[in-house]
Amino acid sequence: MARLQQQYVNPGFYGIGIHNLVHDANIGTLWRSGYILGAAFIFTVGRPYRQQRGDVTHAWSKIPLYHYDDIDDLKKHLPHATRLIGVEMSEKACAIEHYNHPDRAIYLLGNEKSGLPRPVTDACHELIQLPGEFSLNVSVAGSLVLYDRVAKTGRALPQRADLRPKTT
Ligand SMILES: C[S@@+](CC[C@H](N)C(=O)[O-])C[C@H]1O[C@@H](n2cnc3c(N)ncnc32)[C@H](O)[C@@H]1O
Repeated sequence: MARLQQQYVNPGFYGIGIHNLVHDANIGTLWRSGYILGAAFIFTVGRPYRQQRGDVTHAWSKIPLYHYDDIDDLKKHLPHATRLIGVEMSEKACAIEHYNHPDRAIYLLGNEKSGLPRPVTDACHELIQLPGEFSLNVSVAGSLVLYDRVAKTGRALPQRADLRPKTT
């Protein structure tokens, strides 16, 4: 009997979250971007999220939100063979323009007031930085990281294949 072989279009997965977030609206915005741009889940580390109204996509019903008590808890529950990538302005960070996103990635952003603390950046496998001399809003930064991943890999959103430039 022939074996049924499932063909997966998208190798890998990614999640994105905020460390000790200050404004709940930011995780709501990131949740919506994450859902639209193909994230498997979003998360908070430290301070948890209190649900907001106003997400017209109802992202909460489509991809889950997980909570980790602290960075050690996140590291302990990191999926197998998955990179923890800190998103931060730092001299140790790789410019995102030169960055190749791994198949399995967890992106961690800092909070609106103080960014990612040093012990947290030290716990990340690598750091990436967006262009610009001033910091962006955290949910904007997260959305841009996800867009960069989607644009470079072209894998997350198979429904976009029919929107490639048409040749005449
Ligand atoms: C508003 S920023 C934090 C600003 C904080 N006052 C500071 O100077 O450290 C919140 C988070 O957004 C992300 N972020 C903002 N701009 C960024 C950039 N240019 N590159 C990488 N991450 C950025 C980082 O995760 C940062 O911790």
